Amino acid sequence: MPATAAQSPPPAKPRWIVNPREEIEVLIKARYPLLYVVSWEESRVLADLDAIASRLGKRVYEWSVTHGITRFRAAVDRKPEGRKGTKDPILALREVLEFNEPSIFAFKDFHAYMKETQIIRGLRDVVHALRNSYSSVVIVSPVVEVPPELEKEMTLIDFPLPTREDLSALLQQIKLELAQNPSYQIDLSPAAEEKLTEAAIGLTLQEAENVFAKTLVLTQRLTASEAPLIYSEKKQIIRKSGLLEYVDSSEQIEGVGGLRRLKSWLAKRRLAFSREARQFGLPVPKGVLFLGVQGCGKSLCAKAVASLWRLPLLRLDMGRVFSSYVGTSEENVRRAIRIAESVAPAILWIDEIDKGFSGAQSSAFSDSGTTARVFGTLLTWLQEKQAPVFVIATANNVEILPPELLRKGRFDEIFFVDLPNETERQEIFAIHLAKRNRPYKSFDLAQLARAAEGFSGAEIEQCVVSAMYDAFEQGRDIDTAAILKAIRETYPISVTMREQIEYRRKWAAGRTRPAT
Ligand SMILES: Nc1ncnc2c1ncn2[C@@H]1O[C@H](COP(=O)(O)OP(=O)(O)O)[C@@H](O)[C@H]1O
Ligand SMILES: [Mg+2]
Repeated sequence: MPATAAQSPPPAKPRWIVNPREEIEVLIKARYPLLYVVSWEESRVLADLDAIASRLGKRVYEWSVTHGITRFRAAVDRKPEGRKGTKDPILALREVLEFNEPSIFAFKDFHAYMKETQIIRGLRDVVHALRNSYSSVVIVSPVVEVPPELEKEMTLIDFPLPTREDLSALLQQIKLELAQNPSYQIDLSPAAEEKLTEAAIGLTLQEAENVFAKTLVLTQRLTASEAPLIYSEKKQIIRKSGLLEYVDSSEQIEGVGGLRRLKSWLAKRRLAFSREARQFGLPVPKGVLFLGVQGCGKSLCAKAVASLWRLPLLRLDMGRVFSSYVGTSEENVRRAIRIAESVAPAILWIDEIDKGFSGAQSSAFSDSGTTARVFGTLLTWLQEKQAPVFVIATANNVEILPPELLRKGRFDEIFFVDLPNETERQEIFAIHLAKRNRPYKSFDLAQLARAAEGFSGAEIEQCVVSAMYDAFEQGRDIDTAAILKAIRETYPISVTMREQIEYRRKWAAGRTRPAT
């Protein structure tokens, strides 16, 4: 990733354009000479370009290194040989200048060639020449690789994943194709269709088609009852992409001890994504940032919110975004955003967002330009997003967070999750005893809470668990004394990390709202 781009996050897109697919048409109409459409779905992009071209009275040509420049015809499988010599990217760019009629040139996978100075120069010549023409060059590529020399000439567009309507259309097409085949049972009543599209949303059209086909092969059916199967296939596909994960969690908000203010803030927004809330005029909540001491319930809360609001929960692992073996970091973030937006309404949980920053400081990740770009992308999106994606970010190391993240307009609220106080500790003991089917009334919660001064929720849970191990080994049940013993044997992080915690508290005092 070019280092010079580090300071400049991508330019803000005009607000009135909501759908990137419409944006492409607007830009082509406005005679933008060079667009860069990011997508894995070449055929969908080209079909869109073809539709745009026919509305605007233009022709579509495509370029690939295997065929050179050819006329795009969606219905024809066998491509004619391209224009002479145009497999060579430099000659292809030169050839573009020879066309007189208004055209759209889709250059597929051209990012691979944009590293060479001759190509960069060639593209700049094209931009210059096409500025006063009715033609545009559109680079179509799954990854973002823009050389700094071209940043200003190029408009980047993330092509969205299929919508629910697109998936419905796909289902109808499958139904039509199998209409004559009695061995398949296909039910696309409105309720069934909704379940099936909901299960597949977040996939590319090709992936969805594969999943539907696989389901048909396995079950000979495509009805509402197949939705869980499709959903679990989708989870696999998304997980394989390496950064996002669908989290199916049974954590309930009642299982979170203490954090009263945070919980009531969340409860108040339970119906914020409903149509009624829109009609009432409530804005869609953007997101929330949980900062604080580890083991105090930040991740737990993220999971509980998903059940409370009944929304799908997508977890983005910041550490993985930066690990080089799964694509470029910036592309990873873009892809995650695209999936979350297509699944919306949904919760995007960016767990341990601070990990991204700490990675940037270690020597293994010395390219700090990448970090800046990744966060530039993320911050711009947080600020501008229109899709109902609620972001929950969590962080332990508050001191390394960049101030931009905390600026107004990014999150609706920033909560500091501190170690539980005595009453909260009682609650947390009660929760974890109840979870293990022990009537908490037979324990001296007040004494336990006093003894566990300075313990985090995770440490409290750990004490209950280790007392249970001891008791089990000794062939008896746990009691207050057994847990007290476990407490005495624990060195809580409030002791081992006293200074850091003190620092974080002080840091948070003026900047965040206490969760309790
Ligand atoms: N406030 C709490 N109430 C109940 N359990 C808690 C609480 N805080 C932590 N725990 C227990 O500790 C575990 C780890 O906490 P977690 O939410 O992962 O902490 P972190 O703040 O580091 O994300 C939780 O899964 C839960 O079992
Ligand atoms: Mg956590």
